[in-house]
Amino acid sequence: MRITGHFAALAGLLATTVSGVPGAQKTVTITKTIEHTKVQTKTVSVTHTASTTCSASAASLSSVTYAATTTTSATLAPASSTSETSSLTAATSYPSTTYATTPAYPFCTSSASSFASVDAVHPRLFNYNGTGAKFFAGTNAWWASHVLSDSDLDIVFSEIKETQLQVVRVWGFGSVNTDPGPDSVFFQLLNGTGSYINYAANGIPRLDAVVSYAEKTGVKVVLNFVNNWSDLGGIASYNAAFGGNATTWYTDVQSQQVYRDYIKLLVSRYKCSSAIFAWELANEPRCHGCATSVIYDWATGISQYIKTLDSKHMVTLGDEGWFAPADGIGDGSYAYGGGEGVDFALNLGIKTLDYGVFHLYPDSWGYNETWGSTWILEHNAVGAAQNKPVVLEEYGGPPSPDNHTAVEEPWQATVLDDTMVAMDQFWQFGTIGLSTGLSDYDAYTIWYNATEYTPLAREHAAAMLEKAV
Ligand SMILES: *[C@@H]1O[C@H](CO)[C@@H](O)[C@H](O)[C@H]1NC(C)=O
Ligand SMILES: *[C@@H]1O[C@H](CO)[C@@H](O)[C@H](O)[C@H]1NC(C)=O
Ligand SMILES: *[C@@H]1O[C@H](CO)[C@@H](O)[C@H](O)[C@H]1NC(C)=O
Ligand SMILES: *[C@@H]1O[C@H](CO)[C@@H](O)[C@H](O)[C@H]1NC(C)=O
Ligand SMILES: *[C@@H]1O[C@H](CO)[C@@H](O)[C@H](O)[C@H]1NC(C)=O
Ligand SMILES: *[C@@H]1O[C@H](CO)[C@@H](O)[C@H](O)[C@H]1NC(C)=O
Ligand SMILES: *[C@@H]1O[C@H](CO)[C@@H](O)[C@H](O)[C@H]1NC(C)=O
Repeated sequence: MRITGHFAALAGLLATTVSGVPGAQKTVTITKTIEHTKVQTKTVSVTHTASTTCSASAASLSSVTYAATTTTSATLAPASSTSETSSLTAATSYPSTTYATTPAYPFCTSSASSFASVDAVHPRLFNYNGTGAKFFAGTNAWWASHVLSDSDLDIVFSEIKETQLQVVRVWGFGSVNTDPGPDSVFFQLLNGTGSYINYAANGIPRLDAVVSYAEKTGVKVVLNFVNNWSDLGGIASYNAAFGGNATTWYTDVQSQQVYRDYIKLLVSRYKCSSAIFAWELANEPRCHGCATSVIYDWATGISQYIKTLDSKHMVTLGDEGWFAPADGIGDGSYAYGGGEGVDFALNLGIKTLDYGVFHLYPDSWGYNETWGSTWILEHNAVGAAQNKPVVLEEYGGPPSPDNHTAVEEPWQATVLDDTMVAMDQFWQFGTIGLSTGLSDYDAYTIWYNATEYTPLAREHAAAMLEKAV
């Protein structure tokens, strides 16, 4: 492990994997040699002694990964200042703020409907609002948390509600390495010192507003914690602050600690809200060229962690649904080859993930559009084999404005007529008349005022709700 950040910031961040009998308690001594390059130019050897208690309870666990509290026997050279003793473990407010502890937007109101869950009688479906299992449609509007205007959010949630779309997937992330100024929304600033949470008007209150409007309209939200892609501050923004790259991020001790701290912040804040449909680990996590065990282990650990914070809400992964050769599905081409380090069938077996998701973009993946229905049937079959809900969480194509019906209607018909896919969510909802004149849509957008909105959004949402359980 090569650490280039501040030496003293290591306190609390060393982790190791301990094999043992689940439930047993043991004391572990960790010895590591750390090449320290940033604060001092020489290499120092350090012995860390850590004591911790393993508290894993799942009988199936064979190993436990934990962050250990460490003490160090090394003495820093006088050149290092006391300011370098700050720890990365606690997220700090950025900037120092007067934002009141009472949220500006009411959320977690008692009048809200009940929590969504996997249905007890029909385990492949969701009990959406306490009235039993249902099929339904949803959508994506990643940008809803990144608009600064409340009246815009009011329009967005009213239109989604009016369309009978039950769930909207929104980015719960937005991280930067340098302050972009008041006109851009960001939730945390990451740098070599750690994470700084933005409680100013262009920060966490925007997420509060999303949850608030969701509660008001009864639409539920899937909130996602990090992006594989660099837009809106994904894994790359962690790497820029803490080192590592797109594949080492999943096991990087500092990045994972900051990521968990961010999850803890959001889950603690909104866990009382029935407007949360599910927590989602990442948007399209990939670990290119990695063994599928990397993402499997990471997703297992993070989803277990979320369940310790909040046992009431569902948790899902957010991946594209790639298969791996071990699944014995498909022709071995890209989507089935495991090259992105994701194994949909393996990951669906993770007990702390309540449902599986998959995405569908044949145009950008090198498949023809009719293959889309095959992809849907294959994921439905894996869901059936494991008796868990699966959701077509994003689909789009071809990327051309107001010309998606011919391609997407057959996919919707497959979902509706030939599967037990519990929900589908087209990518993505677009609307006009927002004060911000948001330009961050893409050519997959289904516009509220477009002709295609009627078949692809309104009629499909109605048909899903009418589908007999
Ligand atoms: C939610 O519950 C209400 C009754 O409380 C019911 O009328 C409505 O159809 C339900 N919605 C869904 C999507 O199940
Ligand atoms: C990180 O950002 C915070 C907040 O602006 C600042 O106080 C701190 O000095 C920065 N650390 C580094 C290493 O740039
Ligand atoms: C990421 O870093 C690891 C460890 O240094 C290295 O093995 C791997 O090739 C790197 N991956 C990329 C894409 O640079
Ligand atoms: C997203 O994942 C792919 C596959 O690992 C990788 O090539 C890409 O760099 C990732 N994106 C970022 C921003 O790290
Ligand atoms: C689409 O691709 C599939 C294989 O992915 C192939 O079997 C099928 O014949 C193709 N259909 C068309 C119309 O090209
Ligand atoms: C619309 O999509 C069809 C394929 O579904 C394509 O043949 C046609 O050229 C597209 N039209 C426009 C205007 O993009
Ligand atoms: C939807 O609104 C946009 C922006 O005003 C406009 O460019 C587009 O032509 C409209 N589409 C339809 C089908 O009315």
